[in-house]
Amino acid sequence: MVNTFFSQYPPTPGAVIEPGQVDLGPLAGRTVAVIGYGTMGRAMALNLHRSGVDVVVGARPQSPRRALAAKEGLRVLDPGAAVAAGDPVMLLLPDEVMAAVFKAVVKPHLQAGAAVGFAHGFGVAFAGIDPGPDHPCFLAAPKGQGDMLLAAHKAGGGVPGLLAVQPEDSAATWDLAAAYAKAVGCLAGGGFVTTFADECISDQFGEQAVLCGGVIELLKTAFEVMVEAGYGRENAYFECVHELKLITDLVHAHGIDGMRRRISGTAAYGGLTRGPRIIGPEVAQRMRKILSEIESGAFAGEFLTRHDDPRRGVRALAADEAAGPLAVAGRELQQRLRSFRTDAGARLDDPESPAGPVPDESDDP
Ligand SMILES: NC(=O)c1ccc[n+]([C@@H]2O[C@H](COP(=O)([O-])OP(=O)(O)OC[C@H]3O[C@@H](n4cnc5c(N)ncnc54)[C@H](OP(=O)(O)O)[C@@H]3O)[C@@H](O)[C@H]2O)c1
Repeated sequence: MVNTFFSQYPPTPGAVIEPGQVDLGPLAGRTVAVIGYGTMGRAMALNLHRSGVDVVVGARPQSPRRALAAKEGLRVLDPGAAVAAGDPVMLLLPDEVMAAVFKAVVKPHLQAGAAVGFAHGFGVAFAGIDPGPDHPCFLAAPKGQGDMLLAAHKAGGGVPGLLAVQPEDSAATWDLAAAYAKAVGCLAGGGFVTTFADECISDQFGEQAVLCGGVIELLKTAFEVMVEAGYGRENAYFECVHELKLITDLVHAHGIDGMRRRISGTAAYGGLTRGPRIIGPEVAQRMRKILSEIESGAFAGEFLTRHDDPRRGVRALAADEAAGPLAVAGRELQQRLRSFRTDAGARLDDPESPAGPVPDESDDP
């Protein structure tokens, strides 16, 4: 039986599949092949297993993760054999090698009509993976890191997910994608309809402009400005880096306005008036440029070709950063703080917390 999650197919981007609408029926009697047992492969394979879905893991003969997967109760085969045993086949490999592995190992072993799944849109949107018209594709992209997905599912929860399918009007593929997302725990709070390209672009833009790029450079610059002005490295680290977690936890739990209501008036006033002086229109202009590089595929091309081995290239860049003053100060302080559970038991969603009032137009003078 085909579910009708949407009033029309293809569904409108942003439409939501609610977890309560979804059952695991589309996975009944099927074996899911999880190719790759890294951070995301392990999380998804173990969550599928916990959900009662038959799973086979595909791992290279020399991979140390074969033994880990077997120890964790999963059946493990060589990648080609696992592909041949599975429908759907989930590709949970590093994005930079996925297209080559798909061509050499996955495509030749796919069962007739087998669906191919992804946790990120990069392979399909920018690396040229096209399983062909006989193989429906779906994307179940958890909005959380792999270990977090594993832990959340184990605790009975999950994370939200972004979902896409190809062809976009295939109700049966939407059913399969939704069932898969539910089984791995990435339907908590909803499965949001998107496309492979939109998921990939928005994910990379968030990483580059904010999470792993913009914010990190902001931290480095603020730390260096304080140290250069003669303030202690520890002060600079605590104020400009360490406390970021507190603020992001508050934003995560309560949104921007809720965060403002839970910090001091000095902090709120200073942030509201000085923040826009730090991040002005010129930053928005640079963000637009970065977005256009992602959209055009220029970033993907650079990532895949700039170094013979993209992984080694990333490691070299990260090694330079790890030798910088912020990273050195961070390692020293973390060593000291590690033996103390500095956020033990912290609850940032406490309903009794005396947060300030919701800003209201009636507050205006
Ligand atoms: N990490 C996350 O939290 C996260 C979050 C959202 C989405 N994703 C997506 O999930 C996918 C997997 O990412 P990941 O971070 O889990 O990758 P990862 O931790 O780097 O894991 C890679 C796995 O792929 C295997 N592998 C590498 N090269 C291979 C090859 N040539 N042939 C066969 N197997 C190979 C590795 O096996 P060996 O043991 O043999 O090296 C390892 O088991 C990506 O599409 C990523 O964008 C990840």
